Amino acid sequence: MSDRRRFVKLSMLSSAALLAGKSLNAATQALPDDKQYTTRKGKPVVVSTWDFGQVANAAAWRVLEQDHRAVDAVEAGVRVPEADPENQSVGYGGRPDRDGHVTLDACIMDEYSRCGAVAALEHIKHPISVARMVMDKTPHVMLVGDGALQFALECGFRKENLLTTKSKREWEQWLKKSEYAPQNNIENMLPGGAYNHDTIGMLAMDNRGDMGGACTTSGMAYKMRGRVGDSPIIGAGLYVDNEVGAATSSGVGEEVIRIVGSHLVVELMRMGFHPEAACRKAVERIANRNAGKPVDFQVGFLALNKHGEYGAYALQEGFTYSVRNDKEDRIFEAKHLF
Ligand code: GLY
Repeated sequence: MSDRRRFVKLSMLSSAALLAGKSLNAATQALPDDKQYTTRKGKPVVVSTWDFGQVANAAAWRVLEQDHRAVDAVEAGVRVPEADPENQSVGYGGRPDRDGHVTLDACIMDEYSRCGAVAALEHIKHPISVARMVMDKTPHVMLVGDGALQFALECGFRKENLLTTKSKREWEQWLKKSEYAPQNNIENMLPGGAYNHDTIGMLAMDNRGDMGGACTTSGMAYKMRGRVGDSPIIGAGLYVDNEVGAATSSGVGEEVIRIVGSHLVVELMRMGFHPEAACRKAVERIANRNAGKPVDFQVGFLALNKHGEYGAYALQEGFTYSVRNDKEDRIFEAKHLF
């Protein structure tokens, strides 16, 4: 989002809050004085989950090239799949819950450990920007459901129908049997063969060496109404520690929440593990927690450390991630446990 548009939105938020007679405590997560927090010069890089991360990375890269903060880059980046009706796992066009409602989850975190999140948000195409507003303009970290929608509307976001004809038709097909069976790596399947989901998680480092992360999804297709996965949960679907690095996840959110996966990956990097090794250890933790049961679901982690090194690891074959820096613009396939 351009500075101009952000400025307009911020102005709208203030006016809306004033009109509603409410005072927003913007101080609680106020940006610290930048001078106190100046870090070394960094080498910009952005990484994100899945093949569709590549176009999202391109949008983020443009922001990094203009010397903006990593958190601005990741917000701009993940807005690309959020707006794409062909991407049925994120934002507009996302597959609905079992009752036909498209409900979106997202979170964002910056270099100062400020964070914002929304869960089970309906009718708003860009949940990541609502999460950004929660971070920037409220004393809270997470808003959910009707409260999140009310906040978004007060901020000036437009209410829209997010259920596209394609996703509606597929859901109506699903209703005939109503069998809830998550499928792995749906992004890599050909159209028509699949009905499940995944997520975009994006991590970036800017010119100053500061980090930011964002994660956004429409969640598991045909989930129970009110179900929230890992993606909007700080520590589960996303974690950023500006001293160490950042991590994000994709796959079956319940499994990620059980091990607070992204926080675990960052803590492993703090202990000295390379991003790929840290992701592998988190994946192994999930496998061990499920010992004796069929591990027929997918979880993948993606991590970026303060040196600009990145890596990923997944339970199953097929988890891909996209990387953009001054040398490469590539998609990699993650190694996998099974
Ligand atoms: N990882 C996304 C979800 O489980 O909703």
